[in-house]
Amino acid sequence: MLTMDSNDILTRVGSGTPMGELMREYWIPACLPQELAPDATPMRIKLLGEKLIAFRDSAGRIGIMDHRCPHRCASMFFGRNEEGGIRCAYHGWKFDVDGNCLDQPNLPEDARFPDRVKAKAYKVAELGGIVWVYMGKRKVAPPLPALECLSLPADERMVLCHQRDCNWLQSLEGDIDTSHFGFLHVGSVKTEDVDPDTMHRWGLINRTPRYHVKETDWGTMYTAYRPADPGNYFYRFAHFMFPFFALVPDGTFSNMIQATLSVPLDDSHTMTYNLAWTKREQALRTLKDGSPIPGASLARDFLPTTTDWLGRWRLKANRGNDYLIDREEQSAGRSYSGIKGIGQQDQAMVESMEGPEEGIVDRSFEHLAVSDRMIAITRRRLIAAAQAHQKDGSLPATVDRPELARGARGGSFIASDKVDWLDAYYAELTRAQSPMDFLQRAQAAE
Ligand code: FES
Ligand SMILES: [Fe+2]
Repeated sequence: MLTMDSNDILTRVGSGTPMGELMREYWIPACLPQELAPDATPMRIKLLGEKLIAFRDSAGRIGIMDHRCPHRCASMFFGRNEEGGIRCAYHGWKFDVDGNCLDQPNLPEDARFPDRVKAKAYKVAELGGIVWVYMGKRKVAPPLPALECLSLPADERMVLCHQRDCNWLQSLEGDIDTSHFGFLHVGSVKTEDVDPDTMHRWGLINRTPRYHVKETDWGTMYTAYRPADPGNYFYRFAHFMFPFFALVPDGTFSNMIQATLSVPLDDSHTMTYNLAWTKREQALRTLKDGSPIPGASLARDFLPTTTDWLGRWRLKANRGNDYLIDREEQSAGRSYSGIKGIGQQDQAMVESMEGPEEGIVDRSFEHLAVSDRMIAITRRRLIAAAQAHQKDGSLPATVDRPELARGARGGSFIASDKVDWLDAYYAELTRAQSPMDFLQRAQAAE
């Protein structure tokens, strides 16, 4: 249960809003590098409620800027991307990726003033298979994010995106809501259906875990735990990381290098990015005969891309067709939800939440339970951070020290029930990351 005022602080991301301003202090994913080719058509994108164009110039550099030409505000979406910059189609003014004006061809030579006009261009960087943009006010942008999954070699990383018709926080909260896994995704799977040696079976044997939650330098963390074999617990750890990262628990801790991002396009649309090491071991994807669990794949079909602000990475299974739900599969018990694909199952749930404004749930209607403790502390942490930033400009530690993210890893393991949960976590993290970086060790072993 949350007041509408608090809900507004959490959900509004436009310029000048508390959460929007906090998010602008971080680097934000804008698109994928392969979506932009040199001298190709400029692409419309939306981020934090701002309409932008993205393009790659003749030298391969990426520009992301306000789509309005600084001359008389015609959209530079219609512009010509050529010879090292974008030229507005209205009067031919030309700008480079940094927003510098290179040409004002409709003006007499002695009336030109290129030094006094600039397109509103943002700083851009490529990292981990993603194009990032810094939309904040600092002259020198903060350091780039430093999650483990952003330093994966290009041929061993998976980067998937898809768009959601809902507010960013609904999307994020789905990724820190652990107990739904045993229902929405694998509710039709019985313990005897899976490999008797996989530790992940404990998540099926007992679908009512208990929880520990904690605030951290990078955001919040929790574990859901339940008894395993005598003397042990089966732990599932996960994290929220400012401003919109989730490190989900859905796999084996020792190799679970991954993150899910819920990037606000505007108040009611979100682009999710799933980043992962291709060699990670995910939890419960196959039955013991090796066949896939019905519906539990990452496969996604997309609608054709359009040039609309929100026209990219839209799923075929969507609100308009009830996510292609198969009621027969559902009633026969082969699939708990009847919806195919883990991403689509999550999508149906988080997009179906409603409020007075489409795409933003009314959280005053909720009844949170013990299974939602992580969601509750994450909301508190987000509201506190947005308000502190609004009041005196203070910021979460990860803006200037992104390496703190290396303390966060999601995933499952078994540990003694005599050991404190945080001690168990840090012991497992140290085992996974030392004596040298996990990835280096993995590569050395091959
Ligand atoms: S509006 Fe763009 S050059 Fe005039
Ligand atoms: Fe899910």
